[in-house]
Amino acid sequence: MFYETSKGDHGLPRAPFKSIAVPRPIAWLSTLSPDGKPNLAPYSQFTNLNFNPPYIMISVNEGGHNQRKDTTLNIETTGEFVHNMVTYDLRNQMNITAEPFPLGVDEFEKAGLTKAPSMLVKPFRVAESPIQLECKYVQTIRIPSTGNQGAADIIIGKVVGIHINDEFIMPDGKIDILKIKPLARMGYSDYTYVSEIFEMKLTKMAGDRPDLDAGLEGALLKK
Ligand SMILES: Cc1cc2nc3c(=O)[nH]c(=O)nc-3n(C[C@H](O)[C@H](O)[C@H](O)COP(=O)(O)O)c2cc1C
Repeated sequence: MFYETSKGDHGLPRAPFKSIAVPRPIAWLSTLSPDGKPNLAPYSQFTNLNFNPPYIMISVNEGGHNQRKDTTLNIETTGEFVHNMVTYDLRNQMNITAEPFPLGVDEFEKAGLTKAPSMLVKPFRVAESPIQLECKYVQTIRIPSTGNQGAADIIIGKVVGIHINDEFIMPDGKIDILKIKPLARMGYSDYTYVSEIFEMKLTKMAGDRPDLDAGLEGALLKK
């Protein structure tokens, strides 16, 4: 099949696009309102942009009411946010924090989550989450929408501090992803989590390139 996205003529009973870039990790963003009220919400239009230094991006839709979400307003006004890794065990709490509560409602309390202080930024971390990224706001890129879905704000942040719960670091120094079971979003109302890992290194058919190995690992390149 083929369909033109501007026409949306896929003929399927359910829109397929969100089932294509899968699985998507979920940014679970903790922010503070300008008057200091905590906010927490999940965003799966999320990825890393660079690793040295680390940058991440989240795309926040305005939605049909053309209203910018609390997370966008908080990040742009305070300049800070924290990403908390979502796990399979935290799936129900994450889901509660997606409810459209009015600005000023504390989703940590609604979901029964514990606030932990951050080191370099003011928004709290989710204590139950195994890994948190403390971020400083860099810029917003606005992309227009067709129809009445509202524009999207692509928020870029620089990761200035990383917390990893020692319980999830293996003796070889790698993060124990199978123990963490990171949750990921797929299409429709479907989710998955990481339950299997395999390793694959570069073939070296084009010669040994330690810089490429370092890039794939996200390591600092040794001079
Ligand atoms: C798993 C999951 C992923 C989501 N991803 C996004 C997303 O990428 N962009 C977006 O605009 N909304 C996304 N949402 C919806 C927001 O979480 C929801 O609108 C929330 O109420 C926003 O809260 P806020 O206004 O406090 O920022 C997602 C919801 C869930 C459950």
